[in-house]
Amino acid sequence: MNSGLEDIVAAETVLSDVDGEAGRLTIRGHPLSALAGRKTFEEVVHLLFQGFFDDLPDPDRLTAILGQARAEAFDRALPLLPLLAPLPVYDGMRAALAAMPDGVTLDDALRLVAAPAVLIPALIRQARNEEPVAPDPACGHAADVVRMLGREGGGAALDAYLVTVSDHGLNASTFASRVVASTQAGLTSAVLAGLGALKGPLHGGAPGPVIAMLDEIAAEGDARAWIDRALNHGDRLMGFGHRIYRVRDPRADALKAALKTLDRADDRLAFAEEVERIALVALRQRKQSRVIETNVEFYTALLLEAAGFPTESFTGVFAMGRVVGWIAHAREQALTGRLIRPKSLYVEEHARAA
Ligand code: ACO
Repeated sequence: MNSGLEDIVAAETVLSDVDGEAGRLTIRGHPLSALAGRKTFEEVVHLLFQGFFDDLPDPDRLTAILGQARAEAFDRALPLLPLLAPLPVYDGMRAALAAMPDGVTLDDALRLVAAPAVLIPALIRQARNEEPVAPDPACGHAADVVRMLGREGGGAALDAYLVTVSDHGLNASTFASRVVASTQAGLTSAVLAGLGALKGPLHGGAPGPVIAMLDEIAAEGDARAWIDRALNHGDRLMGFGHRIYRVRDPRADALKAALKTLDRADDRLAFAEEVERIALVALRQRKQSRVIETNVEFYTALLLEAAGFPTESFTGVFAMGRVVGWIAHAREQALTGRLIRPKSLYVEEHARAA
């Protein structure tokens, strides 16, 4: 048995490749550096959906249809919002997605891409007792999210973020989506599986705790002491370590570049870089058998904080980008027609105790 399925190849994909030794992420033949900050989110949706929907239009038309899908998502969300009010932002978004049709067409896919982008800002505003802002279908996807949040500027940074996290090999949530799609269930079911897996702190739930860590360190004023105490206690430092990367996660630097386009981030960035440097030294000293480097979540936290998202919404914003990868993988898996069904090793409890 291979614990955590480490090093097991469980799917063939044309979508993305994570080279953990070289620190390289390739999405449909393009290095991440050629996409983040260079292609729009909509262009990357087009890239990832190619070959999986017969009626996929050109990127400009796709951009227009996605804008329309946001408008429709808003109309559907409005009556649901009061019912979702008691839930945390992520759970509210998940509940609204669960009520969507479970088909496999391009319309179904775009509805699922549009929904988190509309729901997350609306749920954030509702929690602040503010009226939701309707989408503008003529706006770019990321810029519209910023608009719906009620902020000005930062659309380009969010666009680079959504592109950066759009797909990443067979990560836990994408695998969960593929397992569901392999049963020939619809795209909503596959996306809900991805949402469930993304939520945990070992995957997409880490950036909120990164902010908590930075705030605690800032309050204490001694990063080394805080980090030593956490590691002595057996805690994991959020935003560090990865199953595949044995070098720095290339997405960390893509996000750092996007973060620098937000002028309000300067002091916080300098402080976070100092914490990162001290954390990496401490991790190297203590975990000599495992290379632990900065992962995507460390700079995700800083970028989303600077872009004006509250920490409780960070994982939902991650889902806004990753939903595209889940859908493309779900289509790719379903088209193989092969059910994913591994085996377990039965270990009798009394034998184990003996
Ligand atoms: N802080 C402290 N120690 C760590 C960390 C960390 N962030 N990450 C791994 N380790 C240690 C483990 O404690 C373990 O030490 P041990 O051998 O002394 O027991 C060793 O490194 C190996 O850990 P595993 O859990 O086997 O490594 P795995 O490849 O499964 O871990 C993971 C990957 C889950 C991301 C891990 O690094 C982690 O928990 N990081 C913190 C949470 C985080 O940042 N999550 C976001 C990941 S990125 C994403 O999913 C989008």
